[in-house]
Amino acid sequence: MPTGTGNHMKNFTSKSVTATFNIISSLLLIVLFLVLALSSYRREQELIIKGAVDNARTISQQIIETRDYLSKHVTYEPEQNPDLIPQVAASKIARQLTSGSNFYVRQVSLRYRNPDNRPDRFETEQLNAFKGPNPKEIWSVSKEGNKKSLRYLLPMTADQSCLACHGSYESAPKFIQARFPKDHFSYGYQVGEIIGAVSVAVPMEGLYRQIRHNLKRDVFYDGIVMTIFIIITGWILHRSIITPLKKVTASISDVAKTGNFSQRIELKRSDEIGELINSYNILMSELDHKTRQRIESEERYRNFIEIAQSPIVTFMSDGKILISNQKTEKLFGLTKEELLGQSIFEFMERGEDLKNALNDYFTVGKSDLIGTTTRQKVRDVCGRFFEVDMVISVSQSDQSQMFSAILRTAK
Ligand code: HEC
Repeated sequence: MPTGTGNHMKNFTSKSVTATFNIISSLLLIVLFLVLALSSYRREQELIIKGAVDNARTISQQIIETRDYLSKHVTYEPEQNPDLIPQVAASKIARQLTSGSNFYVRQVSLRYRNPDNRPDRFETEQLNAFKGPNPKEIWSVSKEGNKKSLRYLLPMTADQSCLACHGSYESAPKFIQARFPKDHFSYGYQVGEIIGAVSVAVPMEGLYRQIRHNLKRDVFYDGIVMTIFIIITGWILHRSIITPLKKVTASISDVAKTGNFSQRIELKRSDEIGELINSYNILMSELDHKTRQRIESEERYRNFIEIAQSPIVTFMSDGKILISNQKTEKLFGLTKEELLGQSIFEFMERGEDLKNALNDYFTVGKSDLIGTTTRQKVRDVCGRFFEVDMVISVSQSDQSQMFSAILRTAK
């Protein structure tokens, strides 16, 4: 029955749309979360590394400036006080600057004087690369054992003042000559030559800890924003689509139950849902109109057959009597209520013939019992048989064929 199907359909559709929305939005939420977390992570990493590189650069430049200053202004003082050797003083200042932080600063050279300033594998590689044209600062994340660290190197070029101690052995001060013999590789630099580099290392562990911390905070706030967004979208979707759709479905199922087409849905909107509801209302008024017309025409037909002189009975293809006039009731000796719903075949001596004739009509398209006057025997409620002249005509009702039989009592 349409009512049952209607109810079932209603529940099914509304549930599945909501479920579909929930599934889609959760998937969306998860995907968004992942994408967001990933991009946040990248951004955080970039920011943190950039910050660390900026710090490393500042420290290195400070060292270079300090050392350049000392190199220009200090001449024989280091002889008495080795702490005034530009390299030594700059290193000590750098150490003080970075004390308490996780920045490790060194000054290295391939031709080192102090074995403490011997470059490691990474630094050696970069110092060799600095021998090429346009040596510039470099940084990268490198792995030493299983420890990762951010490495930064700023090349240092020799100027005239450096050559006082790093030029020829002969021109070097006595205390330098005393410490480093003539053939030591720390002599012989030219102006403009790369003499070494400031090397800064920051263990990534600490940086990662900060990234993780920032990431957690980012994802937390992004998550809140996204959840609110999805909840609002869901609410709008519900309000603008699901609720009106439910209204339409409920109304349709109601119509199916009651057959009352006078219902209209009040909703003024100009979008697709508004169109749907508008179409629904038009359909309903059309059906309403048609139903009224049908009822009226049925009424007319009833009135018409009532004033006819002969018994007239209208029945469906299965023989079920739909409409009859008083003359028929009198003929069969039954009231209208008793007659309606009964099978016409029951009242005929050769009911089988009529049944077959109707079948023929549906299969072959015609039948010799339809459209022609035939003599038939019909039976009243007491089982008495009458002879009648019967003519059957076919008419099309809404969904199916209807047959009307005019029975004229044979004289
Ligand atoms: C007064 C002499 C003197 C002057 C001037 C001088 N240096 Fe040095 N430099 C030294 C000594 C001595 C050392 C070794 C320090 C130590 O024992 O750690 C050194 C070490 C270095 C190192 C570390 C590598 C190594 O050999 O151990 C670099 C790099 C360096 N100097 C660059 C320069 C530059 C660049 C200048 C010019 C701006 C300069 N020096 C000016 C005496 C000097």
